[in-house]
Amino acid sequence: MASQSADRYAVVGHPISHSRSPWIHHEFAKATGQTIEYGRVDVAVADFSRFVGDFFREGGRGLNVTLPHKEAAAAFVDTLTPRAAAAGAANTLWQQSDGVLVGDNTDGVGLLTDLMKNHGVSLANRHILLIGAGGAARGCIAPLLDQQPISLTIANRTADRAHSLAALFAGKGPVRARSLSDLGGTVFDIVINATSASLSGETPALAPQVIHRDTVGYDLAYGKGDTAFTIFCKVHGAKAAYTGLGMLVEQAAEAFYLWRGVKPPTEAVLRELQAMIRAI
Ligand code: ATR
Repeated sequence: MASQSADRYAVVGHPISHSRSPWIHHEFAKATGQTIEYGRVDVAVADFSRFVGDFFREGGRGLNVTLPHKEAAAAFVDTLTPRAAAAGAANTLWQQSDGVLVGDNTDGVGLLTDLMKNHGVSLANRHILLIGAGGAARGCIAPLLDQQPISLTIANRTADRAHSLAALFAGKGPVRARSLSDLGGTVFDIVINATSASLSGETPALAPQVIHRDTVGYDLAYGKGDTAFTIFCKVHGAKAAYTGLGMLVEQAAEAFYLWRGVKPPTEAVLRELQAMIRAI
């Protein structure tokens, strides 16, 4: 019998050397008895479209897309799923049997699964604060509104960007915009950091009064342990604060499911990943 080569996947970004996706997907493959190849490719902005075209022409089965290419991926594919269209960004690509290149976005599911399933946080009937107004924040809005919070407040250092983003989702739910410096005495049940501040070890200039003893903080970013933002939340009396490592694993699990048709177990992978990152 002729030997069959494994189905080929990759994560593409710039930079990409830090990416845990190959390890995560190989763990998922092992756990579900699948055989896949999953690589890591550093592609500059100018070369992104050519790379994606070549990858699928040469038989690649699926791509994960990370910074800074998610918006370019959404613009490049033939069709977007509704959740990728709402996010304005795609992080999971595949080609249908009719050749149509599809872009989906699993970040929102990743966030919700981590918050709700892994951490037991309910979003319905809650006041949610979303900090940031870039691509990462945009991807969170529709999934959060789907959970029917009482309010979703987008706060950004540059208030105009928060207003533009809120306007995009007006009519989809109770979304409003504020300047980060203008949150007054409002308190929130859930405070999500979708800024890139953690990447440089900073915290957004958030008034500690937004946090009360039942507040849950969530940072889309992750590090060895706590981030500057999760520390800020805990220091100011939040009930709990979590980093985005679980979201990383859960968005990968959803991508794996889309490609392979089988849901991988995530708990052990997340535990091992936490240990690996702490040991670095
Ligand atoms: P991404 O696609 O990762 O969201 P982005 O579009 O560059 O990246 O957006 C970065 C977000 O982080 C913005 O909301 C930015 O605020 P501004 O719009 O005011 O620039 C926010 N951000 C970055 N560093 C920050 C900091 N130190 N404090 C507060 N907000 C910060």
